[in-house]
Amino acid sequence: MYTLGLNAAFHDSSACIIKDGKLLAAAEEERFTHIKHGKRPIPFSTYELPFHAIDFCLQVAGIHLNDVDNIAYSFNPYILLGKHAHNTEISLPLQPHLSIKSKEWHSEWDPLFLSFIVNAPGQLADGYPHHLQKRFAGAKAEINKWHFVDHHIAHAASAFLPSPYQQAAVMVLDGRGEKATTSYYMGEGNELNLLSQVNMPHSLGLLYETVTTHLGFLHSSDEYKVMALASYGKPAYIDVFRKMIEITDDGQYKIKSTDFEKAFGKRRLKNEPFTQKHFDIAHSLQKALEETVVKLADWLYKKTGSENLCMAGGVALNCVMNAVIRDNTPFKNIWVQPAAGDAGTALGAALWIDAQQRKNSYQRYEMEHAYWGPDYGDEETEQFLKWTKVPYKKLDNRAAQTASILAEDKVIGWYQGRMEFGPRALGSRSILASPVNASMQQRLNEIKDREDFRPVAPVVLEEDAAEWFEDASYSPFMLFVYNVKEDKADKIPAVRHVDNTARIQNINRHQHALYYDLLKEFKQQTGVPVLINTSFNTRGEPIVCTPRDAIECFWTSPFDALVINSFLLEK
Ligand SMILES: [Fe+2]
Repeated sequence: MYTLGLNAAFHDSSACIIKDGKLLAAAEEERFTHIKHGKRPIPFSTYELPFHAIDFCLQVAGIHLNDVDNIAYSFNPYILLGKHAHNTEISLPLQPHLSIKSKEWHSEWDPLFLSFIVNAPGQLADGYPHHLQKRFAGAKAEINKWHFVDHHIAHAASAFLPSPYQQAAVMVLDGRGEKATTSYYMGEGNELNLLSQVNMPHSLGLLYETVTTHLGFLHSSDEYKVMALASYGKPAYIDVFRKMIEITDDGQYKIKSTDFEKAFGKRRLKNEPFTQKHFDIAHSLQKALEETVVKLADWLYKKTGSENLCMAGGVALNCVMNAVIRDNTPFKNIWVQPAAGDAGTALGAALWIDAQQRKNSYQRYEMEHAYWGPDYGDEETEQFLKWTKVPYKKLDNRAAQTASILAEDKVIGWYQGRMEFGPRALGSRSILASPVNASMQQRLNEIKDREDFRPVAPVVLEEDAAEWFEDASYSPFMLFVYNVKEDKADKIPAVRHVDNTARIQNINRHQHALYYDLLKEFKQQTGVPVLINTSFNTRGEPIVCTPRDAIECFWTSPFDALVINSFLLEK
């Protein structure tokens, strides 16, 4: 049974395909279209479906769209349509921003937004771009195959069903779903039981987004930059946020509507210089988020009694917050899905529908790695290299030869095997460098044209992680920070953030053999089992997907070398 998962309602559009409970492929649309996050989360773009990601998934499965048994879409418009659910017509204001807000809708834009979602089956069947005509020709809009899955169920399923646990408490934290902004579930086997929900307009995710905008960043995109900025600040405004967030002891909270310019002064515009005040606002927000979520997690622990916690939703990409939950709540094990943001809801929706449809034959599938995107093998890569006439040579020992280049303090593009699903590069589409010299952080920020305050993160051999990072345990997806051990701090200065933390990725051979072997070789040559791993892209661009993307990025950025599958390109 094939189940196609789709995320398209807001942003980070993505698709995945599952066959009898097993994931075959998953990818974000941005990697194919080069539009970061696929699209902006606005009603005008709701109709856009991730056709390239869908096409890729169908190619991996070797099937046509009509061969799919179920299509799971990670948003349920009928929750918001309410009494209009069975109508064939609703009135749609011509100029929603000028119309009197109807009590029926949360937003005056909802009729437009929801009509696009309700019509997604038709859009999938005949809205494909012209260049994919051959692939989608003959597609039928089979409404009986279509499942609209509650957005937070999709998040929760993405966190729990592929986790290592048979039972777990599940916490979803995002900007918003249909109405829910925070949800708590108990997961058992293939079931998720809703325990409680916080609804719009109260949203920790939207609060973080609002501050992201106030600090001159792009909301629903740059929240991770606010998290990085927070390390440079003091909790000067913590009381403002504490007053804003009212928590009760039943897992609920309210966010008081606040005039941010009144509370924090004039909004920073992009490219204006940062002042200490901006650092302090970011720091105070981050601390307030951590304090709040620890309380929510404590409540969830008491409610479920489970020692396992699974998390998803855009807020669960906040690796500093995740570490605070790990260190300050009674949960013993925490698993965060690598595509914890909206992209992962495609996976959650598909797994959820598959679990419902195959109740009797359902078997848990554990997501041990994130390498579910496209692969372009040696043959295709070499064909392209020859065609472009770029000079290259074939490596006979990729791990050892690349380790030697890295040991010479060179910066390389590392392009190997199937692309990662989720926002983190994890050794398939990465830029790698040695962490031994402190100046490497600055150098990488320059190469990638990133802001100076941005840290770079390490990958470490799983068996050596605890020796280099305090209590470092299972962290395959770079979603938790750990303190760098004191006696190792001066050996890997480039990956130490200003607060002595590092957002680590542990790697074992089972997850990515070549990447593991490279680290092993680097350790043999330098004594350090750690490399800097940052995403293979430059500012404002999605991570590279194809050999063409990798070569274009390499030749238009000051890297020293590119190791693309078996081939080495040097400048
Ligand atoms: Fe979401």
